Amino acid sequence: QVFKLKDYRPTDFVVERIDLTFELDPTQTRVVSRISLQRRDGVAADAELVFDGDELSLEGLQLDGRDIDPALYTATPDTLTIRELPASVPFEITVTTVISPQTNTQLMGLYRTNGVYCTQCEAQGFRRITYFYDRPDVLAVYSVTIIARKSETRYLLSNGNLVSSGSLDEGRHCATWFDPHPKPSYLFALVGGDLGLIEDSFTTMSGREVALKIYVEHGKENRAGYAMDALKRSMKWDEEVYGLEYDLDIFQIVAVSDFNMGAMENKGLNVFNDKYVLADPETATDADYANIEAIIAHEYFHNWTGNRITCRDWFQLCLKEGLTVYRDHTFSADQRSAPVKRIAEIRLLKAHQFPEDAGPLAHPVRPETYREINNFYTATVYEKGSEVVRMIRTILGAEDFRKGMDLYFERHDGDAATIEDFLACFAEASGRDLRQFALWYSQAGTPSVSVSTDWNEAGHTFKVTLEQSLAATPGQPRKALMHIPLAYGLILPDGSEFAGQPSGNDAENGVFHLTRRKQSFTFTGVPERPVLSINRGFSAPVTIAMEQSAADLAHIARHDSDGVARWQALNEQATRYLVEASKLCRDGRNLPSAQKLAEILVATASDESLEPAFRAQALALPAESDIAREIGSNIDPDSIHAARNAVLSEVARFGADVFARLAGAAPEGAYSPSAEDAGKRALAGAALAYAAIADGGPGRAMAAFDAADNMTVLSQALQVLTQSFPAAAETADALTAFRTRFSGDPLALDKWYAIQAMMPGKTTWRRVEELLDSPDFDRSNPNRVRSLIGGFSAGNPTGFNVASGDGYRLLAREVIDIDKRNPQLAARLLTAMRSWRSLEAGRQEQARLALVSIREAANLSPDVSDIVDRMLDG
Ligand code: ARG
Ligand code: ZN
Repeated sequence: QVFKLKDYRPTDFVVERIDLTFELDPTQTRVVSRISLQRRDGVAADAELVFDGDELSLEGLQLDGRDIDPALYTATPDTLTIRELPASVPFEITVTTVISPQTNTQLMGLYRTNGVYCTQCEAQGFRRITYFYDRPDVLAVYSVTIIARKSETRYLLSNGNLVSSGSLDEGRHCATWFDPHPKPSYLFALVGGDLGLIEDSFTTMSGREVALKIYVEHGKENRAGYAMDALKRSMKWDEEVYGLEYDLDIFQIVAVSDFNMGAMENKGLNVFNDKYVLADPETATDADYANIEAIIAHEYFHNWTGNRITCRDWFQLCLKEGLTVYRDHTFSADQRSAPVKRIAEIRLLKAHQFPEDAGPLAHPVRPETYREINNFYTATVYEKGSEVVRMIRTILGAEDFRKGMDLYFERHDGDAATIEDFLACFAEASGRDLRQFALWYSQAGTPSVSVSTDWNEAGHTFKVTLEQSLAATPGQPRKALMHIPLAYGLILPDGSEFAGQPSGNDAENGVFHLTRRKQSFTFTGVPERPVLSINRGFSAPVTIAMEQSAADLAHIARHDSDGVARWQALNEQATRYLVEASKLCRDGRNLPSAQKLAEILVATASDESLEPAFRAQALALPAESDIAREIGSNIDPDSIHAARNAVLSEVARFGADVFARLAGAAPEGAYSPSAEDAGKRALAGAALAYAAIADGGPGRAMAAFDAADNMTVLSQALQVLTQSFPAAAETADALTAFRTRFSGDPLALDKWYAIQAMMPGKTTWRRVEELLDSPDFDRSNPNRVRSLIGGFSAGNPTGFNVASGDGYRLLAREVIDIDKRNPQLAARLLTAMRSWRSLEAGRQEQARLALVSIREAANLSPDVSDIVDRMLDG
């Protein structure tokens, strides 16, 4: 079944309230749902009420308290249709279902994880609990009563504020929660379990006291402190930056160990993958801390962008996700180093979103059709969606952007809104025409901008010519011209910036507005030949094609006033070299010297005027997957690996002394997850990798491993060992030591699986197969599956793409198997193959055969069918 944006229409009946009662039981949970409804004005008197369901069975059905005649309704596992309902008066329908959380392996709806009852309802999980209008434009006020055995559910939680609680007979207890804010069903949540709790409070800007509670597995309370701190900082930030205050007396977070995604913004009761709550120095890396901060903030920010203003339909998913990612990005930038944060975002966007846009799974930020909505929680909707909001801010400027946001909250609070509603607020607040800009929401693909420059020495004029193009994507053969905001700077030979404006009015505040196919901008009175720095800070998510000399790139890398642009220039230089070297390697030719690159990298690494985190980013060469993406077609992962290793060696040899010194530098004092200390560790870790390569043996990394007193340094050392010395005895010893030390700690052990899954080489697939059979490899735990199978297929270019096709066959087998229990997870894993058509012919054929074997498997879920069909046919 295909759903289309243009088919939207409101429901025939309006829901006002829903009262839910749950009697929790592992296999026989009884759900009674009383719903007050009224036929919508103008709807025919014979229109039927049609509710959604998913694998449900109906146990009882009443109209205003009286059983409905079975002739007047039809119940199937996925719909409930009721006929002859009152034409004009309000009425109440009572639906009873019985469900089995224990055997719900999809982790959608109500399920059990480690003995804890919990829910995940976005996007369409509520229909696995009871029959309802399970769609985001039906907003109702919820009251929820939970009844359960005390012994297994110390806490009974739902959205909103606690109204009452008490003891019942037979060792049971109950709690009633009321959420005054109307909400769609996807924001409903329930938790029941015996958990540990940490508490704090926050006073809002208007002086209201909010109780903050984070529930975790017993014994892990001391790992929840950082999440709590991040929550309070998020609450404060939203008040300061957007004037947005929290709106209930209590805000709760529950961490669970089996979760399909990162976390979920249920009103007042966020449910988290415990990976994004739990952290202590011994088991979590600096990156884990940064992720926790970002995701805690993301879910909290959803309270306004998502919950108070929700989406009209799932096509508008980016309305809440793109905007909320934008908000969490700016939050993290404010909490940490803004340029370093931006560099990480650019890397992520290029690594995940650009390939999506360039392959068979390409789709617009706001898709127009889908078969399975869960497959649209993508890098395009989230990350590119965030870039689009960022561009709005670039075009409008900070002040008008804020005015537009204020108008959005003022006008649409309580609404289920659309992208058109959102854009209208910015158009009105700024007086700008955003119609062409709106194409960013409807056209898939990454635009390309070719740039040429012309320096007129005699006339002191500098002319920049830009030309845009956008390749066809599935379902979109022809594209319209986009509005692309490109931030720029002209850097003079002495490193200063030329301050003059170009002719015409298509540029303002350091931004070129490219709206036609081809546009030129002429600067006059330029004293000397400048170097153009373009798409500064990655102001638009596009690729730039420009013939810029290595010397010009080096000039930008040294002098640009924008740190991100300096990194962009370095990265561009490294990418160019690596692309060239990989191609030569593929053709069996010798590689040119990487001396120039080595010089600039080592100079940057040792430049004490730059912050350590920035220097670490500079040292991180483009990943093999980045190089593959730039090459684009006929990819041979082995030659990319070989070429990149050759460059690593040359840089390592050239900077051996510098790296040896930097590798030994550690932040002083006890471990702190602060951005500053994390930056120092990142630089030391990057230097360690080079120093170890220069050594040519594992000794230094092994020593670092043995001396490590926190997970960041420990896992850095283990990665150096497994990446650079996979066959060394020391590496095997370190892996065993890690395994033994963290055997009781699932999140730490996930790292052990992932690090091995990413070991390069032709035989890693065998190691992965062995690990799949190891006793603590649990296929029902998504984090474990993603660490091993996801680490291998999405994080190991040479190992996964082994020419024999064994990697693809391994993934196909696992996808088919996991699909039987958890289709969402299976479909997500399979997307690792989305760039299969850009491989060289032999691997392409192996990949195709593996995809066909999936397509031909029995009883595929709609989730996996959708992905595999698009990959083969797109
Ligand atoms: N809305 C959640 C977020 O914060 C993601 C939930 C997605 N869940 C799913 N089953 N597709 O981004
Ligand atoms: Zn979100």
